[in-house]
Amino acid sequence: MPNFSALDLPLPGVQPARIGVFDSGVGGLTVLRELYRQLPQESILYFGDTARLPYGERSPADILQFVREIVAWMMQQQVKAILMACNTSSALALESIQSEFPVPILGLILPGARAAVQQGRRIGVISTPATAKSHAYQQAIQEIDPSAQVWEVGCPEFVPLIEQNQIHSPQMRRVAEAYLQPLIDRQIDTLIYGCTHYPHLAPVLKSILPKTVQCIDPAAHVVMAAVQELELLGLRSPQLAMPTRFCVSGSPQQFAQISSQWLGFTPQVEAISLHELSACVGAQADLS
Ligand code: DGL
Repeated sequence: MPNFSALDLPLPGVQPARIGVFDSGVGGLTVLRELYRQLPQESILYFGDTARLPYGERSPADILQFVREIVAWMMQQQVKAILMACNTSSALALESIQSEFPVPILGLILPGARAAVQQGRRIGVISTPATAKSHAYQQAIQEIDPSAQVWEVGCPEFVPLIEQNQIHSPQMRRVAEAYLQPLIDRQIDTLIYGCTHYPHLAPVLKSILPKTVQCIDPAAHVVMAAVQELELLGLRSPQLAMPTRFCVSGSPQQFAQISSQWLGFTPQVEAISLHELSACVGAQADLS
């Protein structure tokens, strides 16, 4: 665990601190939805690194660097805790980043793995290629239950199609059938959405899978873990939530347009340049 204490964090009451939530794009909205449901009093800073998506085809070194920049920038915005609403970041960067920054930082893999072993023994994981290659889910699941069988499938075409708003297109259905077939052949009883973009596809995926397969959305479980962590550290907000602050590294208009279908409103979105993000890493290093 990282070493931080409540003293390192912005003083409650002085300024209502937000929880930082980030993803490469609109995938993190599936985690945001759970935050709104389970922690309605918390104020959120949402960041989508849309200039650099998809993360799932980047190298581990790139992903670590992107995450370091985002977390350093979020620290400058005085967040009190961070949720990596991105499995690729959680699989490849969580442990290093937790040791570098003095706030609680939560990832999706362990909460998702725990939830899956409570459901079944033949577990399929669909994820980005980078997450699949890391075998983070397989390791986490088999550490909890060595008898569980795990099959991981990297799905490179899903994120670009979702970000292009192609959820109900014939092409999406074709690629979904191709990615799921090997898991159906293995007779999985449980499927983990190992990328936060994929719960947006739930209706398509469920219409292809046999009815007996249970689908696990790690978002619900990481937010349950966040509830406990904030409680333990005395960081729960006593006030009403401020409106979510949305920021992206790419086009604010595009993000506002595509995200409104899930948010139920059209958000105001700020642009944060990649230059601004990378400058935060230097500033953070100067402080330590
Ligand atoms: N939504 C992210 C994940 O959970 C990243 C997707 C991507 O940019 O490839 O892995």
